[in-house]
Amino acid sequence: MMPPASDQSALVEAARAVVVGRARDELTTPALLLDVGIARSNVERMAARVAELPVGLRPHVKVHKSAHLARMQVEAGAIGVTTATVWEAIAMARGGVDSLLVANEVVDPGPVRALAELAGTHEVMALVDDTVNVADLGAAARAAGTGIGVLVDVDTGMGRCGVRSPAQARHVAEVAAATEGLVLRGVSGYEGHCMLEPDAERRVLEAGAAMERLLAAVDAMADAGIACEIVSAGGTGTYHLTGANPRLTEIQAGSYCVMDTFHERLVPGFDIALTVLSTVISRQGDTIVLDAGQKAVGTQAPRLAGHDAEVLFVNEEHTGVRVPAASRLRVGDRVELHTGYAPTAANLHDAYHVVEQGVVIDLWPVEARYGVATLG
Ligand SMILES: Cc1ncc(COP(=O)(O)O)c(C=O)c1O
Repeated sequence: MMPPASDQSALVEAARAVVVGRARDELTTPALLLDVGIARSNVERMAARVAELPVGLRPHVKVHKSAHLARMQVEAGAIGVTTATVWEAIAMARGGVDSLLVANEVVDPGPVRALAELAGTHEVMALVDDTVNVADLGAAARAAGTGIGVLVDVDTGMGRCGVRSPAQARHVAEVAAATEGLVLRGVSGYEGHCMLEPDAERRVLEAGAAMERLLAAVDAMADAGIACEIVSAGGTGTYHLTGANPRLTEIQAGSYCVMDTFHERLVPGFDIALTVLSTVISRQGDTIVLDAGQKAVGTQAPRLAGHDAEVLFVNEEHTGVRVPAASRLRVGDRVELHTGYAPTAANLHDAYHVVEQGVVIDLWPVEARYGVATLG
């Protein structure tokens, strides 16, 4: 069953009337801010770069969970979106995106049914690495009277989901191809382990090795007479490497859109659009304490934007920062934090305060968070 459209949109709608038109510094903190001009130029820059590569761009929207941003990406040329969950796929479909890849195994019966239903109105694909799951997806599609696209998930060295050998890829592909209700479209092999390699030269080698593993699966499937229409991989740290491979057809990079300090280290040319606005609630000597901690900034330590400062600690509700003695920051001042990893920061908030030149111009929901979209 498709989940009902949540009350979240009504809440965001009510809040919109209150905050739109406010100056950034009049917002209640902590607040998630989106500099829409920066996001737009990131989107346009990536679209221009991918236009020079032999692949399409199917950006991963688990990063921002925003149908507004997804539409911006599609309008700039993306061929569809990648999601982590069926609920994100439904939210993006409701927001007007036609082609959806759930780059994950879908096993729980509720999401399986929802995926099968969604396939009745949209182009929908999911990953498979297990023949029992293949049978369950096929049964759900037949029950819904639809067809679900599937890609064989290939482990390219990350050690998460995905088949571990070309022979296993071929076997899962053969079973999927023979399953009524499913359409075998190809393979996916996200090389997430390469994003953790800070050395750019080593990352080139690791990404190359990862794609060899993915393409070995493609070759094994070809030996069995199964062609891969879709060969999908790539993140923000490898889009230019993976996307330059002529045997790839699409890349899944997502973080480039809003950026964070982790991805900033991996690729030049994209700017941070997402920040957490916070208030200085204490200053003791050269230590300032902010009203935004792990519950506002996510899993990785943030950075104080625009100040020479060192983050000392990130507690549940507080972040402590050492500032130079000469810093004028004092209690009551507003500061912005660049998040360490944007996807886990955005997921903590109901909505983005969409900011242009320091003024809130809109409020965009952060969609399909657990609970709101998945109850029942
Ligand atoms: C399967 C998959 N594809 C693509 C991405 C996008 O990577 P990035 O956010 O670095 O662009 C991720 C991120 O975790 C992912 O899990």
